Amino acid sequence: MRTQVAIVGAGPAGLLLSHLLHLQGIESVVLERRDRDYVESRVRAGVLEHGTVEMLRETGVGARMDAEGMVHEGTILRFDHHSHRVDFRELVDRTITVYGQQEVVKDLIARRLADGADLRFEVDDVAIGGLDTDRPTVTAGGETLSADVVVGADGFHGISREHLKGLETVDRTYAFSWLGILAEAPPSTAELVYARHENGFALHSMRSPSITRMYLQVPADEVLADWSDDRIWSELHTRLADDDGFTLTEGPLLDKGITPMRSFVATPMQTGRLVTCGDAAHIVPPTGAKGMNLALADVRVLSHAIGGLLTDGREDLFEAYTDTALRRVWRATWFSWWMTSMLHVQGDDPFADRLALAQLAQVAASRPAAAMLAESYTGLPYEQGWSYR
Ligand code: APR
Ligand code: PHB
Repeated sequence: MRTQVAIVGAGPAGLLLSHLLHLQGIESVVLERRDRDYVESRVRAGVLEHGTVEMLRETGVGARMDAEGMVHEGTILRFDHHSHRVDFRELVDRTITVYGQQEVVKDLIARRLADGADLRFEVDDVAIGGLDTDRPTVTAGGETLSADVVVGADGFHGISREHLKGLETVDRTYAFSWLGILAEAPPSTAELVYARHENGFALHSMRSPSITRMYLQVPADEVLADWSDDRIWSELHTRLADDDGFTLTEGPLLDKGITPMRSFVATPMQTGRLVTCGDAAHIVPPTGAKGMNLALADVRVLSHAIGGLLTDGREDLFEAYTDTALRRVWRATWFSWWMTSMLHVQGDDPFADRLALAQLAQVAASRPAAAMLAESYTGLPYEQGWSYR
């Protein structure tokens, strides 16, 4: 069987790419290991950059996001028991939208299926071949798909990255993880609160007017069983407290889990007609919620590059893909590292902790410093459009 683009992985990256290619008249097949229900209910971050929102809206998959997403014009940094608001609207004239990643995934799957896409779930034996030719193949379930381009959108644990020639990786693991909860409780704050407390970092986020999403910094080797619901709430109350009488509303927990924190960048993002994007190529720690936004920014560049290649035989955009994508990846990697270092407690490194507090004081006191945070948080401008023509 032939297709133009074979995409491995139906996370946000693979699904959006398939959609953007379709809008350019390019057909694709998406192969996903998990079942549809699993990918639609996987709880991940929930902050969409200004440009992500515009791209989803412009390409016709933003209706539910516009109806249900919560537009935020700023965020709160809390340290030394005081709150400091970073006003995105005023500083950079941008906003962010709080809307869960799995909601974006649901919207993309619904739209792809309505457009007649070939989306295959529960395909767990994908193998990539023919990489020395200009007709690479993807084999799965005894069937071989021959394509013009194969895209590895298969996340950090995928199989595509290992096929890249001359692969080099740089990474950093952090000494802490995030314990995340989803609670059936109305948010206790109108905007996200990033709190640095002596006991560690805490984040108050949300999913809807009745669902709260929160995180606690815990040691990297922490065991979830050691965290009873009571212990989680008690620690959230302590770390989120401020001198203005902030109160936290509790509710039944719907989900809890521990996520490790790492920074990771693998280059190149292409070899011949195989390319990687999203988590398959790079990971950022979740502080600042860049993961999905960065994956979708890769896809924007990639859809443009594949459009040029398959529509007009232009090799230049395709060849430039890794370099174009990596410029944004490294700036987001820096931002995510910076937010992480500034907000987490090192404990065994008093020098790092004093520097982090000085950074927070700088952001709270200096308009240029706050604008720098706001610019990256709401999303750097894109270098180019998503559509080749
Ligand atoms: N065959 C088929 N599918 C695979 C394979 C495989 N061998 N390996 C992995 N997959 C699938 C996974 O099941 C998953 O659904 O690829 C998909 C990758 O999706 P994500 O991990 O969501 O990655 P991506 O689309 O790049 O989105 C990045 O996800 O991890 C978060 O914070 C990150 O928000 C960011 C986003
Ligand atoms: C989330 O809502 O899950 C979230 C929000 C902001 C972050 C990370 C995660 O920085």
